[in-house]
Amino acid sequence: MADRWADSHRRDSWRKMAKNSGYRARSAFKLIQIQKKFNLIREGDNVLDVGSHPGGWSQVSVEFAGDDGYVVGVDLEPCEPVDGCVFIVGDITDLETQKRTIEAFSDSMINTVVSDISPNLTGNWSRDQIISLQLVASVFDFSLPLLCPGGNFVTKIFQGEGIEKLIQLVKPRFSSVKRYSPEASRNSSSEVYLICKNHVPWKNTGASILSELNTIYNSEEEEVNEKSAIGFRLHKAK
Ligand SMILES: C[S@@+](CC[C@H](N)C(=O)[O-])C[C@H]1O[C@@H](n2cnc3c(N)ncnc32)[C@H](O)[C@@H]1O
Repeated sequence: MADRWADSHRRDSWRKMAKNSGYRARSAFKLIQIQKKFNLIREGDNVLDVGSHPGGWSQVSVEFAGDDGYVVGVDLEPCEPVDGCVFIVGDITDLETQKRTIEAFSDSMINTVVSDISPNLTGNWSRDQIISLQLVASVFDFSLPLLCPGGNFVTKIFQGEGIEKLIQLVKPRFSSVKRYSPEASRNSSSEVYLICKNHVPWKNTGASILSELNTIYNSEEEEVNEKSAIGFRLHKAK
């Protein structure tokens, strides 16, 4: 009971801070804390923000990328404008949205991917956790071919089955892959961030992370699998 009170008190204080500082969401502080520790976004970076609504991480990305930077946010929901950021409304696993995202970067490579993506929750914890990991795997499949050598990637993941497998699949693609829980998210017991630094594309096998991840699940998630495979083919063809 006392723990629950403390958690909700902490959540409320981050919310208040977000309101006072002009950030749209308290989640903005998670990215600020991640950035302060790992320095993922550099001045002048092209940043892709996946799952950007309402725009807190996009606001923070614009601040760290500076005047020479460029930020593209993608979400199912429309975001209010942020100076220095272009928003795309669409499903990141959808081919059309992926094409528009690539076009938004005008064929330039991405320096940093920040993803706070989480699916609509069904209330069935283990199913939600699997869907969330599959979504994250789809984001890796879509964006890794666009990420420059030395580029960075941060994504939210929910603890549970499949995490170790995902990390094992991602590790060869970066010099360093770590789990990190920023203070602003410590009240959410299952949420953790995967910090991937220094993309090493020459070590990529070209295999789809989602397809590999799905080998540990039953084949009931065919729909997500198929969508991502389409996106993956698009990038192989590019
Ligand atoms: C926790 S919120 C992101 C908050 C955001 N980082 C901020 O600071 O304002 C997660 C977002 O992921 C988005 N999302 C979920 N599935 C998606 C998908 N397939 N494509 C694009 N966005 C998605 C949701 O619409 C939701 O807005």
